[in-house]
Amino acid sequence: MTERQFKEEEYFGWRASCAQDYIDACVEALTDDEAFKNFRRNPKYTPILAHVTAKQGTEYLIDITQNNPYIIDKFIHMKDVTGNPLLSKFEFSKDGNPSYLNLNMSATATRYIKVFSDLVTLFGSLENFNIVEIGGGFGGLANILSKGHFKNYYNVDLREPGLLAKKYCTTVGVKNFHIITPAELHKLEDVEIDLVISNYAFSECSYEAQDVYIDKIISRAKRGYITHNTTKQRIERTKSIIGNYKNFMLFKKDVCQKKHPIFSWDKTKSRISVIGIGRLGLCFCLSLEKGRHEVVGCDINQDYVDNINNKTFLSHEPGVNELLGDTKAFEATTDLNKTVNHADLIFVTVASYSEPDGRYDVSQVDSVVESLIQLGKQPTKKHLVICTNVNPGYSDTVYERLKDYNWEVSFNPETVAQGTILRNQAYPDCVYIGSDTQELADEIAIIYENVCNNTPSIRTMDRLSAELTKVSLNCYLTCKISFANMVGDLATKIGADPQKVLSAVGADSRINPKFFKYGFGWGGPCFPRDTRAFIRLAANNDLPHDMCTASNEINKKHLDFQVDEFLKTGKKKYYTDSVTYKKDTIILEESQQLAFAKRLAAAGVEVTIKESPEVARALQEQGSKIKIIPNLVGKDLSKNND
Ligand SMILES: NC(=O)c1ccc[n+]([C@@H]2O[C@H](COP(=O)([O-])OP(=O)(O)OC[C@H]3O[C@@H](n4cnc5c(N)ncnc54)[C@H](O)[C@@H]3O)[C@@H](O)[C@H]2O)c1
Repeated sequence: MTERQFKEEEYFGWRASCAQDYIDACVEALTDDEAFKNFRRNPKYTPILAHVTAKQGTEYLIDITQNNPYIIDKFIHMKDVTGNPLLSKFEFSKDGNPSYLNLNMSATATRYIKVFSDLVTLFGSLENFNIVEIGGGFGGLANILSKGHFKNYYNVDLREPGLLAKKYCTTVGVKNFHIITPAELHKLEDVEIDLVISNYAFSECSYEAQDVYIDKIISRAKRGYITHNTTKQRIERTKSIIGNYKNFMLFKKDVCQKKHPIFSWDKTKSRISVIGIGRLGLCFCLSLEKGRHEVVGCDINQDYVDNINNKTFLSHEPGVNELLGDTKAFEATTDLNKTVNHADLIFVTVASYSEPDGRYDVSQVDSVVESLIQLGKQPTKKHLVICTNVNPGYSDTVYERLKDYNWEVSFNPETVAQGTILRNQAYPDCVYIGSDTQELADEIAIIYENVCNNTPSIRTMDRLSAELTKVSLNCYLTCKISFANMVGDLATKIGADPQKVLSAVGADSRINPKFFKYGFGWGGPCFPRDTRAFIRLAANNDLPHDMCTASNEINKKHLDFQVDEFLKTGKKKYYTDSVTYKKDTIILEESQQLAFAKRLAAAGVEVTIKESPEVARALQEQGSKIKIIPNLVGKDLSKNND
């Protein structure tokens, strides 16, 4: 018997039969170095944490290779030696190559890797997660999951096993591993729990202890993964409580002999619809689906919808074809009713264009709103989220039109650019949400958790402020680009080095180097439209907008300067392999690069453009006199250039 007698109240409901032996083994490993070296062979310890057989280990490995084969690669060279476990040799084929896997690890480790694989299947990634494990044993699962780059790992366990797990994790180099005893659950109060895991431990607790864990941890966790053993009655009890969580499911039965059920839930995952699946909307659907949402996208063009559904649609946007090919939970449709019925959260990404006076033509959104009204009052609350660029104040009018039909309305603009849409959606700096209530804003914010690979700053505000934020953001960027080009032109004229000057000014953190290089002026579909919309709004409100008007003028004068500079060189030929407004796109709208080429051609310079076949075709349709060579190699759409 160890010096510390195990007390019933500390045991907190864990199985009494082996509790004392288990604690004794932990204390031995904690106090005696030799015992620590061999703790995973200690017969007092193994019934609890080393009970997986080599045969089961092979079954786990087969499960992993079937579902997430690349996960195995992370562990091929793993040295599962700390605590001296019994190592098994697992040899079997992967991709028909029998010698591929020759792993030397404990069978228990294969089970942990299988849990990792399950978590990836269920939740995509563990990156930046705060994970709570109820009953984390010696820390073996935390060690395996650390390969998923979690943020923090909280192991809720009795004091001695917890300390042993800490010692093990420190030895094997697991960072941000914390131990919490059952009496210290209050330490988790301020922790946002991204995932709770429990393999058997929770299911073996007393009902009283389970209730505490449910109250303090499980009900607060966004996602869960609970492997349940014990009786049918206990399983039903757990199900009756956590079965009500959003997206609860019996994920699968464990491969162990008793086929224990594994329960999971994901409160962050939801069904989402998108209306208008053009360049932006399709990418958004794919990003949502990649973030494990079930997505229905609606468009009006039946052929286009069919091509998306049978995956024959080919996009120029980098990454779209690959993601579309992999989709499992994305369906396109022309049926608006089906789109609305699919989800309570519905995004609108139809197009909007500039009117001659600079305002946005929002007729496509108007037409969607009209169609929604035609569907009649919704039986349950629906939440329409406008992503389309609109005139500030417009979303409020949509709310007025839809509120009697049981709709909420928010505005959530996309700050992405053609050629990098998917990347921008995965790594936004900021997400702007204009909603009537924080609750509505949260509904939108939570979906970005799954969509984004980073942790963007989420800015919530009212609809009008969000609309103004969107146009102001792009308007500021056009001013910044114009300023950089203005400085660059001046530097060129007086003989200074434009790039060195701008790079030096941009190195100041108050300025920053983004969008601050000397080059072509701004163009494309978004910058000019947002700038015009901002100017019109300011003018309509009798407020100055001279900066933006000047930015526009400087953009034009910069082009004049560039043309003059070229002509001054006396060169008779000009060759370029890109006239789109931004590299890696096929968009010619308001392209300064194309305007430059045309101006040179008009001045008698022999201009040759080697462009992708699509762009070459569009140029020919424009009747340009410029020599155009289709670049059959095509543009390298895999590179991203901001
Ligand atoms: N493309 C971008 O990179 C980008 C970036 C930021 C913002 N935006 C804004 O997003 C909006 C959409 O831009 P886009 O480039 O994707 O436009 P787009 O023209 O490529 O796509 C619009 C889609 O909406 C569909 N549509 C029109 N009316 C519809 C209706 N009633 N029901 C269903 N579908 C309908 C069209 O058929 C089309 O497929 C615009 O306001 C744009 O300014 C776009």
